[in-house]
Amino acid sequence: MTATRPRLGGASNMLGGSIEVAPNACHHAPALSVKPWRGVPGTAGRVAVVGAGKMGLPLAAQFANHGWHVTAVDVQEHVVAAINEGRSHVTEEPGLAEAVRSAWAAGRLTATTDAGAAAATSDVVVIIVPVMLDDEQQPDYRSMDGAVDAVAPGIHEGSLVVFETTLPVGDTRNRFTPRLAEVSGLEPDRAFFVAFSPERLYSGAVFRNLAAYPKLVGGIGAASTDRAVAFYASVLDAEVIPMSAAEAAEFAKLADTTYRDVNIALANEFARYADRVGVDIQEVIEAANTQPYSHIHQPGLGVGGHCIPVYPHFLLSRAPEMELVGLSRRVNDGQIGIAIRAMQRALGGLDGVPVLVLGLTYREGVHELAYSRALPLIERLAFHGATVTAWDPLLTDDEIARSGARPWSWGSPSDARVIVTQTADARFRDLDFRWFPELELVFDGRNSLRDVALPVGVAYHGVGVQATAGS
Ligand SMILES: NC(=O)c1ccc[n+]([C@@H]2O[C@H](COP(=O)([O-])OP(=O)(O)OC[C@H]3O[C@@H](n4cnc5c(N)ncnc54)[C@H](O)[C@@H]3O)[C@@H](O)[C@H]2O)c1
Repeated sequence: MTATRPRLGGASNMLGGSIEVAPNACHHAPALSVKPWRGVPGTAGRVAVVGAGKMGLPLAAQFANHGWHVTAVDVQEHVVAAINEGRSHVTEEPGLAEAVRSAWAAGRLTATTDAGAAAATSDVVVIIVPVMLDDEQQPDYRSMDGAVDAVAPGIHEGSLVVFETTLPVGDTRNRFTPRLAEVSGLEPDRAFFVAFSPERLYSGAVFRNLAAYPKLVGGIGAASTDRAVAFYASVLDAEVIPMSAAEAAEFAKLADTTYRDVNIALANEFARYADRVGVDIQEVIEAANTQPYSHIHQPGLGVGGHCIPVYPHFLLSRAPEMELVGLSRRVNDGQIGIAIRAMQRALGGLDGVPVLVLGLTYREGVHELAYSRALPLIERLAFHGATVTAWDPLLTDDEIARSGARPWSWGSPSDARVIVTQTADARFRDLDFRWFPELELVFDGRNSLRDVALPVGVAYHGVGVQATAGS
């Protein structure tokens, strides 16, 4: 006999984070190659993309496949070598391998480690290297400072430099433009141009998003904005939106991402209350979101990845008075503790309890452990005495071992008394519970298994979803 929880209704497209925007069709006629490129519609020049990672490499391919000659720049030799063989080193992004191969085969994509030389021969330099957080939750500029210092000697009359990496408000103008001006000896917004244009893409849907999400562009002056708008209009099929200043574009990116963090914190608080009053939070959110002004996001074990949990700190680093922003970070980070307490209550403590964690990447389908909530989850489980095993469809046993858990292999017998899901990977729905004869509890950290039938005697606990005992 099995226990089944209620299924969600039909309005799941109203659940936050799953809203689809239709991509625009490509409207570009083949571009005329010109040297130098001065922003004339219908023309294409040379662009250097500095940072050929999960975002930079798709951009490089996108630009090349719109007629630009692209030099991808990266500090990692293996990345450069792969691109120069027409291969994508980023394997999970749909369409990327083909886009890199066709750009390379057309002779429009090469790679180098020499940022200065690439900038010197390019009309446009797009910089997309990471800015993360240091141990004090302040922006860690090491990669970006290195990239800016490396391209600066190549900046010349007519160069356009665009920062796509998310930055604290004011950095384009105050931190980076003076360095470029000093090394090049050129006057910004007159002899060369600088703009900020945030990357807003979602890993796994990059090319769809590139054709759909409006591109925000703010220069350090009107000439810079115009030149950057002309560049993006030549390579993107999405709307290009000129903004009044680089600062407005920087702030827009931080506002959009912080909104999501605050929204998720609200969903998590709602889930805590739903637990207390015995109401299913999924049903509540789905019902609330049938009102068109309501866009409540999903509760869960907190927020991972190097965007959403990071950018609120960029705001707080300059505006510590933003109480709601700081509080939301704490609420979201606190979800691990709430999950641990629920497991302790269900099992009467975790000391010596075998726990299997499923899904270690910050999100299903993305090979990225940055700020993944799996890391504090494993650390706290171990702290409370649990013996932790883990599995992730995208990670090797070595990568799993580095997270602090013993790797489990899919399909092998396990002594786990608790299974915790940390991502919503669809494969978890195919678990065969006969592999887990000791299983007592499924803690569903993303509420994605709520309608999966569990064996008799196995309890279910979601985030704000009623605990049920298998029967
Ligand atoms: N990944 C996402 O989902 C996402 C979404 C939206 C925006 N972004 C933005 O894109 C930025 C980059 O993210 P990503 O996912 O592409 O990162 P990534 O780690 O996949 O790639 C970054 C690349 O930059 C290279 N690099 C680092 N320092 C360099 C330097 N000084 N010169 C040249 N190359 C250098 C690295 O070797 C790496 O290949 C983020 O910081 C964020 O602002 C990312």
